[in-house]
Amino acid sequence: MVREMDEKRQIERLEELRREVNFHNYRYHVLDDPVISDYEFDLLLNKIRQIETDHPGWITTDSPTQRVGSQPTERFIRVAHPAPILSLANAFGSQDVRTWYERLAKLDERVAGTDYVIEPKIDGLSVVLHYREGIFVQGATRGNGQVGEDVTINLRTIPTLPLRIPVDSKGPVPPQYLVVRGEVFINKKDFEDLNSRLQEAEKKTYLNPRNTAAGSLRQLDPSLTASRSLNLLVYEIVAAEGEVPNTQLERLAYLRNFGFPVTQYAVHLRNLDDVINECENWAQRRYQLPYEVDGMVIKINDLELATDLGFVGKDPRGAIAYKYPSQEVITQLLGIGVNVGRTGVLTPYAILEPVDIGGVIVKQATLHNFDFIAEKDIRIGDQVRLKRAGEVIPYIIGPVTGTRTGEELVYKPPSVCPACGQPVENLPGEVAWYCVNAACPEQLIRNLEHFVSRGAMDIIGLGIRIAKQLVSSDLVNDVADLYTLKRVDLLELDGFAEKKADNLLDAIDVSRGRSLERLIAALGIRGVGEVVATDLARYVVDLDMLSQVTVENLESIEGIGPNIGQAIADWFANPANKKVLRKLKAAGVWPRSEAGKQELGVERSLSKHTFVITGTLPNLSRQQTKEFIQEHGGKVKNTVSKKTNYLVAGKNPGSKLEKAHSLNVAILDEGGLLGLVGE
Ligand code: IVH
Repeated sequence: MVREMDEKRQIERLEELRREVNFHNYRYHVLDDPVISDYEFDLLLNKIRQIETDHPGWITTDSPTQRVGSQPTERFIRVAHPAPILSLANAFGSQDVRTWYERLAKLDERVAGTDYVIEPKIDGLSVVLHYREGIFVQGATRGNGQVGEDVTINLRTIPTLPLRIPVDSKGPVPPQYLVVRGEVFINKKDFEDLNSRLQEAEKKTYLNPRNTAAGSLRQLDPSLTASRSLNLLVYEIVAAEGEVPNTQLERLAYLRNFGFPVTQYAVHLRNLDDVINECENWAQRRYQLPYEVDGMVIKINDLELATDLGFVGKDPRGAIAYKYPSQEVITQLLGIGVNVGRTGVLTPYAILEPVDIGGVIVKQATLHNFDFIAEKDIRIGDQVRLKRAGEVIPYIIGPVTGTRTGEELVYKPPSVCPACGQPVENLPGEVAWYCVNAACPEQLIRNLEHFVSRGAMDIIGLGIRIAKQLVSSDLVNDVADLYTLKRVDLLELDGFAEKKADNLLDAIDVSRGRSLERLIAALGIRGVGEVVATDLARYVVDLDMLSQVTVENLESIEGIGPNIGQAIADWFANPANKKVLRKLKAAGVWPRSEAGKQELGVERSLSKHTFVITGTLPNLSRQQTKEFIQEHGGKVKNTVSKKTNYLVAGKNPGSKLEKAHSLNVAILDEGGLLGLVGE
């Protein structure tokens, strides 16, 4: 009885914590107006995790811990939509809008007095979200309009998607069943960041934000989707059990009240001239939005009237997309240049006959990698189609093959590095080609540029021009040479007067005090950016220690897979890098980490062992047990397999115990686990 009461209270507490976390998540991600600190937020979330690890049976699909928690799937299941997911007819300019209006006015006399709502048309991917009793239960892509793909687990990772409505417990009561439609997209900035990360990891980059959003939502592994900064805006009610408002304007407010992210740029207008005016105004304004907008959607506000107007094919008559002229042009490809990145990756770029796209003169565009050129059969001399979307860097769609003269040249990737003339290499299974010459001056310049950048050693005033000067004058042969630069040497360089030399030396001096995580990020190890560097600095006290960590131990750190682990080990094994480290140490650039007390590099007692936990232990919670094992270097998995070394079993163990018996896996109780590390 007492126990039951206790459990009841705990469940209530859990529910309350979930409500709180959902609410703060909404304040942060949707309203952009948090009322607590990130730290306090993490504390709340941790409390939920703690209760849920102790009581796995209490985990619900709408728990905020489930945004990233699920396992990869093998394929997506098809789901039928409750109503057809329609598309929109297009209007290319004001005349098309007037023609649309005149046709409607002939069909129904109410059209003459109607009002409108116009909304930005986000260039993303339509999704359909189902809520039962306020809980997000299923989400699908649009598919063919009748049937889509079930991407629920991926949608859950989107921070602005409410897992439960209303988000605020004081909010209105939602209908028993509610299906809404919205657009999933990625902000332009996040798209560019993602592409640089993919490029750095020598993976294929995405063409544009829309294609990125689609690709990210269709990942079979939800943890990949979670890493993609996807976003959502909701604009339509597809189905509802119960009363819902019958104007678009009210519906947007209604959805917003439940905690759905809804555009703040919807405008209510009373006549067609104002509508056209507003659409024209947005032609330029849209570039200021963080996401790509390819038009405005004009909607008849009275949804009863809109429904009565019916459809033409798949397009409802009551709304139309006002499309902006596509920022697409055709120009000639004059040549193909090749950039050398700091890891030696060669990236081809197009040299173009200068062309104006939406007021910007474009002379160059990326060609991603050599496979892209071959796949698209892009030849030098071709007319190519080029697109610029928002502020995003222009990209090439493909060649116009119909106008070929026969003079075009098929491009052959270089066999030597364009900067140093040394042979280039391609690793099996990778798209990238590399210059592997450790002394390649172009790589060194890029390396320096990275080393001194903001998230790294942050040496103010050392830009690309100075980096080039330092390398070509032989003053700098590796990043460590920065710390032994002398005033007299700098004064020899073009454009260096005393003040400039002193400022640079001061800035370099200041950077000696940067933290270990910044220095790790600055080294330019493949796949090790600011985030991974921060993780690493939590486990090691200095670079000596990091250099001794085995690949296996590196992989046991969350967020580090085999590729990054190997890249780190390779970097430290390279003699040229060892020399850089020696020089940095001698120059006193040798930060120590405060947090790196966990001593991952030292052989720890549980390393090389895999554990599975089941049942309730007398003293340690599930989370504590997991952390204990990980702190001592062990790995914790969810299922018992032949590779499991130990099953840690407590009270009410469940089927894992039988499985462990059948596979002859050693079984430990809490005391046995502590005994393994001599505690
Ligand atoms: S209304 C019948 N509103 O544009 C209603 N669509 O070209 C049709 N889109 O498939 C949708 N932002 O994926 C609507 N504010 C918005 C939109 C929007 C983007 C997309 C949507 C649709 C496509 C039609």
